[in-house]
Amino acid sequence: MTSPLVLNTVGDLRRAVAAWRAKGERIALVPTMGALHAGHVSLVEAARRSCERVFVSIFVNPTQFAPNEDFGAYPRTFEADVAKLASVGADGVFAPGVKDMYPEGFCTTVSLSGPAAAGLEDRFRPAHFAGVATVVSKLLIQAGPDLAIFGEKDWQQLAVIRRAARDLDLPVEIAGGPTIREADGLAMSSRNVYLSPEERATAPLLHRTMTACAARIRAGEGIAAAMAEGRAAIEAGGFTLDYLETRDAASLAPVADDARADLRMLVAARIGRTRLIDNIAV
Ligand code: PAJ
Repeated sequence: MTSPLVLNTVGDLRRAVAAWRAKGERIALVPTMGALHAGHVSLVEAARRSCERVFVSIFVNPTQFAPNEDFGAYPRTFEADVAKLASVGADGVFAPGVKDMYPEGFCTTVSLSGPAAAGLEDRFRPAHFAGVATVVSKLLIQAGPDLAIFGEKDWQQLAVIRRAARDLDLPVEIAGGPTIREADGLAMSSRNVYLSPEERATAPLLHRTMTACAARIRAGEGIAAAMAEGRAAIEAGGFTLDYLETRDAASLAPVADDARADLRMLVAARIGRTRLIDNIAV
């Protein structure tokens, strides 16, 4: 088990990537905000299967958090993260500082529409995807990987990044990795540490409800009726629901009540002070 190279500046990152590329090696980037769990690790393992070299970025990106969100409290576990990445064979960790990514005078932001304006996460976190797309574009331009992997856990984010990479002609393949779940169905998330034991016991209701709704839709029930029942079940369970929707999987546009192809069901709900999101194929 060798420790990954830990790099903090764009210059060092570019030199490391250039040295590997000169040897003909394919390079993957897995962008993260740290507090790594088995979901992140699965993306690193997927990256390793198709590239000789895997870089993981760890950067808690301030521009994707609203002032009332958890930027300051977001879990930061750098030493444990690097140890985890060593054990799965990541070659490098890129951990820039906020001043490196956003130097004095920084004033350029990627402006989005389409899947970023679908009325899902964007309705509750209006500046979020501009912050995500800007930092991901920067990371892709900085590292210049052949492949970048993102989790399906953040389905709208994956759709936004796929679209932005295509629209900006970023020369990189964008791949998605399946959502890794706890045994009871709760999607792994760095934010699950915020849950009290009671909230943690309630949390699998989101995945359970979506699974039941998807089965009813597949059995012929109308999407609107299934969503109404699902919303009621989630609220009855003690959540404050932001949304439960079934949409077109790629564009995230609303679909007809009897649509049955390429659907994705997405949920966001709050329990206590924690906001959880999840999604499944229908
Ligand atoms: P973060 O929440 O740290 O997630 C990093 C990557 O891990 C994302 O692609 C996310 O979708 C994926 N991921 C999270 N939980 C997962 C799970 N249970 N199973 C599979 N993949 C999972 O998403 C971000 O960071 C940031 O927005 C980022 C893209 C790094 C930009 O700042």
